[in-house]
Amino acid sequence: MHLVLPSVEYKKSFIEAVREFQEEEPNETTRRYFKYSVPEFEANFDTYVQELKAETLGLGLPVGYVPNTLYWLTDGDEYIGRVTVRHRLNEHLESIGGHIGYDIRPSRRKQGYGSKILELALPKAKELGIKRVLITCDETNLGSRRVIEKNGGVFENKVPNPETGIDKLRYWITL
Ligand SMILES: CC(C)(COP(=O)(O)OP(=O)(O)OC[C@H]1O[C@@H](n2cnc3c(N)ncnc32)[C@H](O)[C@@H]1OP(=O)(O)O)[C@@H](O)C(=O)NCCC(=O)NCCS
Repeated sequence: MHLVLPSVEYKKSFIEAVREFQEEEPNETTRRYFKYSVPEFEANFDTYVQELKAETLGLGLPVGYVPNTLYWLTDGDEYIGRVTVRHRLNEHLESIGGHIGYDIRPSRRKQGYGSKILELALPKAKELGIKRVLITCDETNLGSRRVIEKNGGVFENKVPNPETGIDKLRYWITL
């Protein structure tokens, strides 16, 4: 099991995962899997992977977004989930978004992959020169809370998130 950069090699498995995500309600993290329909992902997968790579270089980002590196967690040939490491915080990330965001495909949850993806992302953040990582989650997201706590997250506080009405819990991990 390891983190890889997005690659067309995982097309079949990634699209199976998209189907799973599109069968559940999106949250702030998983709405990325709704960017295209399954047939659109099928038809334009190479372009999609290029878009993700461009994002890592800071190209084509919406105004106000900071550069971020995206990794896919894979197990053998299977796409398991994704993790984004943002290179720095801006005002919004400092209060709501944090440095790292992750998700695991629905069929693979509660099997330890969420804890693993964060564990593997922490050295990547360190390589980027980040000394203290901020990770946040919705107060109601029990799985993500456990993932953060199992990786040594130290709770700082909770802040209101006007976008969702659900408070965000803010945790720090010193690298
Ligand atoms: C949050 C998420 C990444 C957790 O991934 P996961 O692969 O299920 O995590 P793990 O298997 O490592 O589980 C870690 C712990 O949380 C617990 N857990 C996982 N999901 C849970 C849930 N829905 N409710 C209660 N506990 C949960 C597990 O039982 C495990 O507990 P344990 O260590 O005491 O045994 C996954 O549910 C997901 O992708 N959700 C949608 C995207 C998302 O919310 N991302 C996080 C944004 S902050």
